[in-house]
Amino acid sequence: MSHQTVIVLDFGGQYNQLIARRVRECGVYCEVRPCTTPLAELRAMDPIGIIFTGGPSSVYLDRSPKVDAQIFTWGVPILGICYGCQLMAHLLGGRVVPAQQDAAREYGKTDTAFDTGCTLFQGLPESGVTWMSHGDYMEKVPEGFTLAARSAACPNAAIADEARRLYGVQFHPEVNHTQHGTDMIRRFLYGACGAAGDWTMEDYRRTAVQALREKIGGGRVLLALSGGVDSSVAAALLAEAVGEQLTCVFVDHGLLRKDEGDQVERAFSPWAMNFVRVDAEGRFLDKLAGVEEPERKRRIIGGEFIRVFEEEARKVGAVDFLAQGTIYPDVIESGAGDAAVIKSHHNVGGLPDCVDFKEIVEPLRLLFKDEVRQLGRELGLPEYLVARQPFPGPGLAIRVIGEVTRDKLSMLREADAIFREEMARSGQERQLSQFFAALTNMRSVGVMGDGRTYDYAVALRAVTTDDFMTADWARIPYELLDRVSVRIVNEVKGVNRVLYDITSKPPGTVEYE
Ligand code: XMP
Repeated sequence: MSHQTVIVLDFGGQYNQLIARRVRECGVYCEVRPCTTPLAELRAMDPIGIIFTGGPSSVYLDRSPKVDAQIFTWGVPILGICYGCQLMAHLLGGRVVPAQQDAAREYGKTDTAFDTGCTLFQGLPESGVTWMSHGDYMEKVPEGFTLAARSAACPNAAIADEARRLYGVQFHPEVNHTQHGTDMIRRFLYGACGAAGDWTMEDYRRTAVQALREKIGGGRVLLALSGGVDSSVAAALLAEAVGEQLTCVFVDHGLLRKDEGDQVERAFSPWAMNFVRVDAEGRFLDKLAGVEEPERKRRIIGGEFIRVFEEEARKVGAVDFLAQGTIYPDVIESGAGDAAVIKSHHNVGGLPDCVDFKEIVEPLRLLFKDEVRQLGRELGLPEYLVARQPFPGPGLAIRVIGEVTRDKLSMLREADAIFREEMARSGQERQLSQFFAALTNMRSVGVMGDGRTYDYAVALRAVTTDDFMTADWARIPYELLDRVSVRIVNEVKGVNRVLYDITSKPPGTVEYE
């Protein structure tokens, strides 16, 4: 099924992916293209509208990114954001100049008044906060444009030529700081472009399955399934598309959480495909014996993982496609340049180098994380896989501080399961980004019944974060911590103390090793 397309034309801005995300959130399919894409190619995509992104340059510089001015006579509605707005003004006969120090340079949250007669702002409040980030100023707007929004420093915070359906905003409607920003993008899509809102997950699923069938034909596909959200959804989508032509190799390194391996296997049992679960616990634990240093642990696990996968891949024989769960934020370049390919190789730790295949297939390449989860639900994957928190590749090995042994792993699995169970029961689960138990390397004295104990301490970690680059420790209720602590000490043999980690990142990291 075909759907309407909006093109996000990339001028190097930092929020381009966010713009694309917002367009899809409004139920419209979109693709990001570099601004150097020839006009003929853009026309061939038959878009219903184009959005020019922001960018770090200044339009009056010779080497700044430009676009063929013919784009404005084509008749397609255009929304220019920040640099995109200035470029539109510049190319259509306006004048853009560097802002004077005390005049029109704006950065941050800015009170802005809107002309609600303009398509972009119809039905929205007459004023609100917008997010500005521009050093240049539109001294003169092009002929045919009216002023549609203003801030204290800037009488032309938005411009519009309703007849030609050309719009420009100096601020960034795509970022959360702009109140009703997504609504403004929605007004552009539905009011100016005539969007039908035909991009739903169901459509996406159908289109993606169809496209995969066309691409793969009768070929064979191999996927390294980790049980994480991305590889699980990619597996389910491919299974629906090509069934038994797909082989998923799930390496169970024995460092998974309680029941996790069985859950993954169970989740995929309804699909007609080849599911290979490799029980490699012994191999991994042998290699990890006596190893305490975190980086060495990681290297051993990464290396062993590749070896096991290679062995399994050899059993499968030559495959035509290696599938990967690369998602949109992983794709660093908007064009399908070399950088994108390098990154997708990197995603599976260099696996493609050692497996005999002809091509890579990445069915989630255009989706954001929350869309991937939505697609997983649409495909019928269980909630515990779809809503899964991030889980590190080296698994519990980096949550057992110091040497990893079977006994320690077993203690940690039980403690972690209790923590997760109580968090789910309390309703805290959905508010937190990530939480887990770790087994410290510390033993301390306690008393249980009438006897002295000398056992391990479990550390509980719970964080909130937007991007995992920084994180705040979560203020979870004392009563909940109390319940978890009592249960762990009573139910997990070998543990006599429970600690709650109140370190943010930085200076801490989310994981312990
Ligand atoms: P840190 O500990 O670096 O973790 O603050 C940030 C996020 O990354 C996850 N993490 C990993 N994920 N392989 C992964 O796939 C790894 O080796 C790894 N180490 C950390 C961590 O769980 C958190 O979400």
